[in-house]
Amino acid sequence: MNATGAWDRLEPKLAATNARVAALESDPSRRNSFVAYTMERDSAYCDLDGERLLMMSGYSYLGLAGDERVVAAAKAAVDVYGTGNHGVRALAGTIPLHEELEAEVARFAGRERALVFGSGYAANVGTVGALVGQGDTVLIDKYDHASIVDGCRLSGATVTRFRHNDVDHLERRLKAAAPTGVRLVIVDSVYSMDGDIAPLPELREVCDRYDALLMVDEAHALGVIGKTGGGIEEHFDHKVRVDVKLGTLSKAIPSMGGWIAGSHDLIGHLRYAARPFLFSAALGPAQTGAALESLRILRREPERVTHTQTQAQRLRTRLNDAGISTMDSTTAVLPVIAGSDDAAYDYATACRKAGVIGLPVVTPAVPNDLARLRIAVTARHTAADIDFAAEAFLTAAAQTGLI
Ligand SMILES: Cc1ncc(COP(=O)(O)O)c(C=O)c1O
Repeated sequence: MNATGAWDRLEPKLAATNARVAALESDPSRRNSFVAYTMERDSAYCDLDGERLLMMSGYSYLGLAGDERVVAAAKAAVDVYGTGNHGVRALAGTIPLHEELEAEVARFAGRERALVFGSGYAANVGTVGALVGQGDTVLIDKYDHASIVDGCRLSGATVTRFRHNDVDHLERRLKAAAPTGVRLVIVDSVYSMDGDIAPLPELREVCDRYDALLMVDEAHALGVIGKTGGGIEEHFDHKVRVDVKLGTLSKAIPSMGGWIAGSHDLIGHLRYAARPFLFSAALGPAQTGAALESLRILRREPERVTHTQTQAQRLRTRLNDAGISTMDSTTAVLPVIAGSDDAAYDYATACRKAGVIGLPVVTPAVPNDLARLRIAVTARHTAADIDFAAEAFLTAAAQTGLI
């Protein structure tokens, strides 16, 4: 092998990662990452090595993954446009479907215009980098998603973190921020590991007082909170507006991609200044067609949102009544804290033996000793599924000493 010395110097890093995974996933029953599940198209069940298990950690909040209309739309797009595209959006990569999707996203978000990126990750990294740089300040919640953190790091702006959902702490940070340059506050609408909601009215108020822009990441809010799944502004009865709205097309919307919605000028700027948009291939036709159809279904079938909200509350009540805390979750994401990474793996393994997939989230995705099962409820879950899952979570908790 070439560069032997360099490989030798890298070795401790590679060994540390691989040893950590090997310790956590010490036998096949403890395998939780990179496991290949085959989801049933019309239920919340999946197949794992011939066993039928109830999936309780999937992201398809609206239950549209596998929906025949969405699948048909993806196939129709492939029939017309083929499987790939002809480059980046600014050159030969744009197809009419992208423009239709962006118009639909703008309508959904209640904004003048929208821009669709290849992923939610790219949307965050690209947008933060295009809005702020040296001399500016970004203020982010401690639990903001990694793609926001990475966008901040790459931007060159001064980055300040405030305590989770703590508006007073944000205010102190804003007071201490440089008086010049742009101030940008970024929060998740719904925190992906905790299932709680950002205090939007208070955030808006403090941002206004300190002349800061407010950006929200709606990844786990789209299709989930608000009466019709409109996200955080709808959740707070449209009493306040954010300046920059970001969402993904990979969770409630069962496709790929991320989006930004905002003013005509904002989107005009991002089209040329957001590097992960400008320098990366356009979203594929199948993904674009699937996302467009899913957004249209969401508009026509708001009962999907209500169903998910009702079933999530049913599960929360069952768990809480039996002594299992779900922290401050009020959404479709329910965390069950196990403690150490090992304890979270033990719990997940016991859940699987009881017929339910609840996937562990461990450090560094969550703080030390707050490893957890991240449970997600979707519109595919029936009341009977939720009751079955609750029993399984409780049985496994008793077996592993969590209750
Ligand atoms: C809050 C949040 N933002 C952004 C992303 C990135 O989205 P995507 O998976 O579409 O790249 C995620 C993904 O998990 C997320 O949870």
